[in-house]
Amino acid sequence: MGPLNINVIREKQIDSSPLADKNIAVIGYGSQGRAQALNLRDNGYDPIVGLPVKSRSRRFVRQDGINFTTPAKAVKKADIIVILIPDHKHKELFERDIDKAIKREQTFIFAHALSVHFKLIKQPTGVDFVLVAPHGPGLRLRERFKDGKGITAFIGRTDDSSKDSLKTAAAYAKAIGCARAGLMITDFADEAIGDIFGEQAVLCGGLSALLKAGFDSLVKSGISPENAYLECVYQLDLIVDLIKKFGIHGMYEKISTTAALGGLAVESEIINKQSRGAMQSILDKIVSGKFTDELMADYGNSFARLKKYQKQRRNRILDDMAVLFDKKFSD
Ligand SMILES: NC(=O)c1ccc[n+]([C@@H]2O[C@H](COP(=O)([O-])OP(=O)(O)OC[C@H]3O[C@@H](n4cnc5c(N)ncnc54)[C@H](OP(=O)(O)O)[C@@H]3O)[C@@H](O)[C@H]2O)c1
Repeated sequence: MGPLNINVIREKQIDSSPLADKNIAVIGYGSQGRAQALNLRDNGYDPIVGLPVKSRSRRFVRQDGINFTTPAKAVKKADIIVILIPDHKHKELFERDIDKAIKREQTFIFAHALSVHFKLIKQPTGVDFVLVAPHGPGLRLRERFKDGKGITAFIGRTDDSSKDSLKTAAAYAKAIGCARAGLMITDFADEAIGDIFGEQAVLCGGLSALLKAGFDSLVKSGISPENAYLECVYQLDLIVDLIKKFGIHGMYEKISTTAALGGLAVESEIINKQSRGAMQSILDKIVSGKFTDELMADYGNSFARLKKYQKQRRNRILDDMAVLFDKKFSD
């Protein structure tokens, strides 16, 4: 492989004029909605938040002193509308509140491409759909912003959007502080598939299964849960820090010889041909849209499947250890 060719767009390269005199509506005031609306406000913008009349989040917007109204009214008044509610609710939001209020030349910003790429919602003619997808949770986006920093983000536009819409996406990413860290261009398909696969196979599903299996093996063999937690889970961030700084090969060079030989020797036992096949099936299911169908079906069934998994797959001893060690060793 040749030298890495990542085109990172920095804050100073971005023109903020696509946002000048524009009314911005932020729909939703949860993890991303609150962080983005507060960052916008602190950067001199005056967003209006859209929330249903009975929304529990209205209390927080009121406390934060940001203007709010219903989603339909917010959309009617706005030039730029940022959709920051859970992905499975985008379809009903558009059908119930947005489709009637939509106007030509509006720009809709999404923080994740799922609902657009898998066609839960349809892009109307003359309306731009763009992506500003921060690489991290809202809490972190807000914390980093307050420290004068940002978190990186993907920006993109659909093929049916105007070329200039990418400039609006970049200006918005700058307004919420992401451009301080850097922006990378992608498209809706890659962001949707990459993000869902990463969280399922590696970051959330894969990692949790690995940690639980390692912890359980030690506890089953008679080692105390405290000890098992310290060995299999607690040190994870140290290894991740090394990987992020030096790569996996670099990490192996920086740990003990015992750990390096042992780790390299068992890698292919843990992730073998069968588990690689399982990863491919996970990816196929995401690409085909079957996972999105399952998400929507479970939403339609009050998330019965999600609740069942949450109950069945909880490892209470491991979770108790996490809380215990966090209390003991934080600060
Ligand atoms: N969280 C992350 O780490 C993260 C990272 C990158 C991208 N994203 C993306 O960002 C988007 C938002 O995710 P999130 O995690 O921030 O969502 P979230 O915290 O679950 O959003 C909840 C907020 O949406 C409101 N809401 C629900 N239905 C609504 C409706 N019909 N109209 C208006 N408001 C409504 C909720 O109000 P109530 O209080 O009334 O329920 C609450 O304020 C998603 O597309 C997600 O994929 C998230």
